[in-house]
Amino acid sequence: MPPLTISAVPFGKLPDGSTAQLFTLENRGGIKVCISDFGGIITQILAPDRHGVLADVVLGYDTLADYVADHAYFGATIGRFGNRIADGRFLLDGVTHQLAVNDGTHHLHGGPQGFHKAKWDAYTMHLPGTVALVLRHVSVDGDQGYPGKLDVTITYELNADNELRARYHAITDKPTPVNLTQHTYFNLAGRGTILDHELTIHADHYTPIDRTLIPLGIHIPVSGTAFDFRATRAIGARIGDGDEQLRHGNGYDHNFVLSGASQAGFRPAARLVDRASGRVLDLRTQEPGLQFYSGNFLDGSVSGKGQNYPYRGGLCLEPQHFPDSPNHSAFPDTILRPGIEYRSESIYRLSTDA
Ligand code: GLA
Repeated sequence: MPPLTISAVPFGKLPDGSTAQLFTLENRGGIKVCISDFGGIITQILAPDRHGVLADVVLGYDTLADYVADHAYFGATIGRFGNRIADGRFLLDGVTHQLAVNDGTHHLHGGPQGFHKAKWDAYTMHLPGTVALVLRHVSVDGDQGYPGKLDVTITYELNADNELRARYHAITDKPTPVNLTQHTYFNLAGRGTILDHELTIHADHYTPIDRTLIPLGIHIPVSGTAFDFRATRAIGARIGDGDEQLRHGNGYDHNFVLSGASQAGFRPAARLVDRASGRVLDLRTQEPGLQFYSGNFLDGSVSGKGQNYPYRGGLCLEPQHFPDSPNHSAFPDTILRPGIEYRSESIYRLSTDA
């Protein structure tokens, strides 16, 4: 097998009659990543365990139609704005904007027709030591209520070091909020729940939420709480604590303030380990925040790839700016302005422990 390959096959017909494609990126380390130009959705990641046995470590479906109908954001590229904007409303340069609302009274993940439901233009590239899928989408002025035309390019790259890099770039002709992220649900065991996965998150603080999952606007220390993942801990160790924040999230569904968030450049975000298989996921990012969502809305009613996904059957680690940032001036800024290039990158590395 050549060291690095990328290939494409038809994935199916979309409601508008266009054909979606499914791209496969593979390296010699046994890593295989499948991504569709529909929604920039990662449909599969095959990774070896410590004995070389492959498993699909992401939740998803078998068919394009299932992804068109999906409401869980399985594998999805998210934009214009990841996570929530309270009441779908924000004030920008003296003008109040109203977005589409799709999560109670709030706007979530770019709206009902966010980037996860768009058909992206796609082309492939072979770079030194890397294969890449380049996805481009132009979100028109007023899309889901957002001001300005946003021209977005996302490049997913796989290299020989088992790194999947997500590079984001965007430009706009009017000021607009932008907070792009990736919403893959991981389960490094390939099935069951993620409660025995061991998690490390490099964050001294997190941003607490109200009962509708909107941040209160403050940071609080993780020290001494169920949110302290600075030392590795099983996800299930304290998820059942009576903590008010865990009650609001029905588990973990919170933005963590990554250490070094105020500096530019990459920072370690998280490490996820499934001890039974030995599979390890390391996440580095240029983003200041990380949404850790422990799959609390999964209830066994969603099935795909031969299994019913149980409560907490997968978890998301979403590198991001903070939720509802356009309404919190103390949070890192998410307004992209004409003449400025939005650039961000996150790296997911798969390996096995000894
Ligand atoms: C994000 C949110 C969760 C949930 C999922 C999708 O992770 O933080 O509250 O909405 O998306 O189900």
